[in-house]
Amino acid sequence: MPKTGELNGIKITTLAEDSVLYESPYLGQHGISFLVTAERDGTIRNVLVDVAQNPSALLENANMMDISLSCIDMVVLTHCHYDHTQGLAKVLREIGKNDLPVIAHPDIFRLNFITDPYLRHVGVMGEDKKANIEGSGGTLYLTKDPLEIMPGLITTGQVERATDFEEAGISLSTIENNQVKPDLMLDDISLVANVKGKGVVIVTGCSHAGIVNITKQAVKLTKTEKIHGIIGGFHLIEAIGAAEIRIKKTAQALKQFDPDWIYAGHCTGFEAQVELYNTFNDRFSPLHTGMIVEVP
Ligand SMILES: [Fe+2]
Ligand SMILES: [Fe+2]
Repeated sequence: MPKTGELNGIKITTLAEDSVLYESPYLGQHGISFLVTAERDGTIRNVLVDVAQNPSALLENANMMDISLSCIDMVVLTHCHYDHTQGLAKVLREIGKNDLPVIAHPDIFRLNFITDPYLRHVGVMGEDKKANIEGSGGTLYLTKDPLEIMPGLITTGQVERATDFEEAGISLSTIENNQVKPDLMLDDISLVANVKGKGVVIVTGCSHAGIVNITKQAVKLTKTEKIHGIIGGFHLIEAIGAAEIRIKKTAQALKQFDPDWIYAGHCTGFEAQVELYNTFNDRFSPLHTGMIVEVP
């Protein structure tokens, strides 16, 4: 893998997330969307990472934050789930550009379903299928490989599953060659920035590949040991089976990377947030709609 360059700075704006703060005017929803603004030697790119599940709320939040969607230069989809991709075609029409790159894993449009409490597809929904994305101004860049957006900003590509305690965190299925198979969420990718003088910043959707696996991949990709920060969902929500031991192992493994901050929410779960807080103290904060992180 090529070594990535370095950004001078990055700004991450949380356009949509499950929670809102006390007195916040923003609209919450189950899902995640970030606007990542990357700067290198005067060149600025605005990358929309996911669109959450309610485009009306996303557009309203952006409006309240004084962000015009026309500033968006490309989209990264972290994985297929509807709470990250629903309304993408509508958002693309709102951005109003032709040939806007939409970066994702090639498996993103597959059937991806749960059967508890009942059979339901939870992946990309009909109105956001390939043809509609392309018909709304998007050009799909579908790859399993890491994709460089600019020197210092790269997607992870399909993440190597290296740890023995991490899995997708949710029981999902797909159909391949007429056979029902467990869906391991191999389409889970994250965005990685390498910021001059600070280190690696990881922006993740649900971390179905495992946040420790993702962090290892980010170190490998950037050839930079220093993790500055991690933001996104860690999918350790106890209600859908993440054992207490996995939460503890995750917090301990992340501690080895010595991050300056971790902001985790969405599907992270209360128990995992408590463990992360106990491990990292004020270097940890729950994620919320409207949260802005600027590096440096
Ligand atoms: Fe999610
Ligand atoms: Fe997910």
